[in-house]
Amino acid sequence: MNLLDTAIEAARAAGQEIIRRWPQERDVRSKGFRDIVTDADLAAQEALIAIIRARFPQHGILSEEGLAPTNNADTVWVLDPLDGTTNYARRLPSFSVSVAVARRDALIVGVVYDPLRDYIFCAERGAGATWNGQRLHVSQVDDLGQAVAGVDFAREPAIRSSQMATMVVCSERIRTFRSFGSAALGLCFVAAGWLDAYFHLSLAPWDVAAGALMVTEAGGAITSTDGKPWSYTQPRCLATNGKLHSEFLELMRG
Ligand code: IPD
Ligand code: CA
Ligand code: CA
Repeated sequence: MNLLDTAIEAARAAGQEIIRRWPQERDVRSKGFRDIVTDADLAAQEALIAIIRARFPQHGILSEEGLAPTNNADTVWVLDPLDGTTNYARRLPSFSVSVAVARRDALIVGVVYDPLRDYIFCAERGAGATWNGQRLHVSQVDDLGQAVAGVDFAREPAIRSSQMATMVVCSERIRTFRSFGSAALGLCFVAAGWLDAYFHLSLAPWDVAAGALMVTEAGGAITSTDGKPWSYTQPRCLATNGKLHSEFLELMRG
C-alpha cells in the first residue's frame, strides 16, 4: 500500500466518522481562546491514526488533537482530522479532513476530503493534483480586478486586525472575497481554479500542509505573505494561481 492510497483511505474513514455524527447532538468543548473541539474531531483522529499506524508504524504523526512525533522519523504525517470545527459545531456545511505526508520537511502527499459533498482532492509531489479523479489546474485569471480571493480568520485579536487591514487594501482592488471556514478547502479551491488566491496569517501545519501541496501541484504559487519562501510550519501564507502572485504580494505589503 503506497502513501497516497493510505492517505485516501484514512481521510475517507475519518470523513465517515464525521458524517455519522453530523445529525446527532454536538459534544463541544473549549480548548483555548476561540478554539473548540468536538467528539467528531476526536473520532476522526482515531480513525486516521488507526489506519496510518497499521501501515506505517515507523512514521511520525503530528495531529491537531494532541499528537506529536515521538521518534526522529524522517517521514511525518501531518493531520487535521476535522478542519472547520466551528462550522461543524454550528451545522454550517463546510469542513474537511486534511492529511499530508512530509519527508525531511518537504511535502510529498496531500489529501483533503470534504465528506458532505464527497469531494476528494489529492496531490503527489511531481505527479499533479486531482479532484475526484480529474486533473486540477489553477485559474488563468491575470487581471487583479477579476480576482476572487479566499480568506479565513486568525483567532488572535492583533493578527485578526492586521488581516482585516490587509483585506481593506485588497478589497479596493479585487473583485471579492470568500470565506469557507476550512483553510484546507480554501487552498484546494485555489488548486481547482475556483478561487484565484487565498491568504491566512495564522495557520498551523495541519491546516495548510495538504492544501499547499495541492496548490503547487496544480501549477500555483505559495509563499509567505512577505514573499519569502514558505514552509508548512510557517503561519503566514499567500497561495495564488501564480499569475497574480506579485500583485497580491504588493497588496499584502499595504
Ligand atoms: C481552523 C480553520 C479556519 C482557520 C483557523 C483554523 P480548525 O481550523 O482552518 O478556517 O481560520 O485558523 O484553525 O480549528 O477548524 O481545525
Ligand atoms: Ca484546522
Ligand atoms: Ca481541526
